[in-house]
Amino acid sequence: MSVPAPETDSKLLEGQVAGHGGVQLSPDGSTVIKPSVASELHFYTQLQAASQGTGAYSSASQLRDDLARLSAWTPAFRGEVLDESRDSTQQEATKQKALIQLENLTHGFAKPCVLDVKLGTQLWDESDASEEKRARMNKTALETTSAETGIRFTGCRIWDSSASAWFELPKAFGKSIDASLLPLGFSSYFSDPLDSDEARLSQVASRAGFKLPEGGHLPRLPPKIVAYLLQHSLAALNEFRALFANIELRMRGGSLLFIYEGHLPSLETAIEAHDTGSKVLSVKLIDFAHTRLTPGEGPDLGVLRGVDTTIAIIDRLLKDVKAGRATQDHA
Ligand SMILES: Nc1ncnc2c1ncn2[C@@H]1O[C@H](COP(=O)(O)OP(=O)(O)O)[C@@H](O)[C@H]1O
Ligand SMILES: [Mg+2]
Repeated sequence: MSVPAPETDSKLLEGQVAGHGGVQLSPDGSTVIKPSVASELHFYTQLQAASQGTGAYSSASQLRDDLARLSAWTPAFRGEVLDESRDSTQQEATKQKALIQLENLTHGFAKPCVLDVKLGTQLWDESDASEEKRARMNKTALETTSAETGIRFTGCRIWDSSASAWFELPKAFGKSIDASLLPLGFSSYFSDPLDSDEARLSQVASRAGFKLPEGGHLPRLPPKIVAYLLQHSLAALNEFRALFANIELRMRGGSLLFIYEGHLPSLETAIEAHDTGSKVLSVKLIDFAHTRLTPGEGPDLGVLRGVDTTIAIIDRLLKDVKAGRATQDHA
């Protein structure tokens, strides 16, 4: 499916937490328009064909079912944007480039709190990475938490209700920490930092050269709400893991994108009412620039390791919150 380029009124996605930038929004905000590459367009097209039972997936198969289920974990694909101003020679010259339209996963949230967790122990793609790129990315993986744990805390942005301000942990945080500090990233994102976390975070900030808000205080949500968010994230991750372990693909440099509602009154109302219609939490998989199906090669163990690391961190946090972690520390 292709659609003509939108002509007017595109604006930039507010609060992009990672990546190359340049993600635009449709005028009504429901769709993001992302600079992409042929391989990502191809993967989304495969997911779409599997969900619709068309093209290469017109007959039933286990792979078709698994891809259709995987597609529910990704933003809905709304087609490629065709740039009619480029002639075919130019299109040929830039054939790696594509503009794709995806469901804006933050749409419908009043204050979307977003976390991007980059998955995988290996971040380069054997189908296109040069020797130089492999070596450089192996080095980065070893110097960050990727090689050991299968995740890098790419960046997050959360709403601080008491300060009416956004709080961000930039790329520099995730790039400068070792695995022992990963839980600090997650407790910050889920608005449940200990006092000692604030102290540790300000040490990381001064070492890595990024700024924290005045006073160094992190946003906090009531423990009951934090527990709800953690519990539902955990359930989603466990379900996702079971599916992903069955699919033979390689996903290099992809991410889990977490989003929760940071506007406290909306969040409380939705949780209390068990209002499944309103947006509380979303856990999705994004960034398939270096993802391809690899039949016969088994699942991506590096990504699975990352999912397991994430599950273990969130599980620990949830147990601590239930045991009254905040009360103990703040007393
Ligand atoms: N479908 C989406 N909905 C909302 N935000 C998105 C979506 N896709 C990407 N983003 C935002 O843009 C960032 C970068 O997107 P990504 O697909 O990882 O591109 P890149 O190839 O630049 O890394 C993400 O971390 C997220 O903040
Ligand atoms: Mg990315």
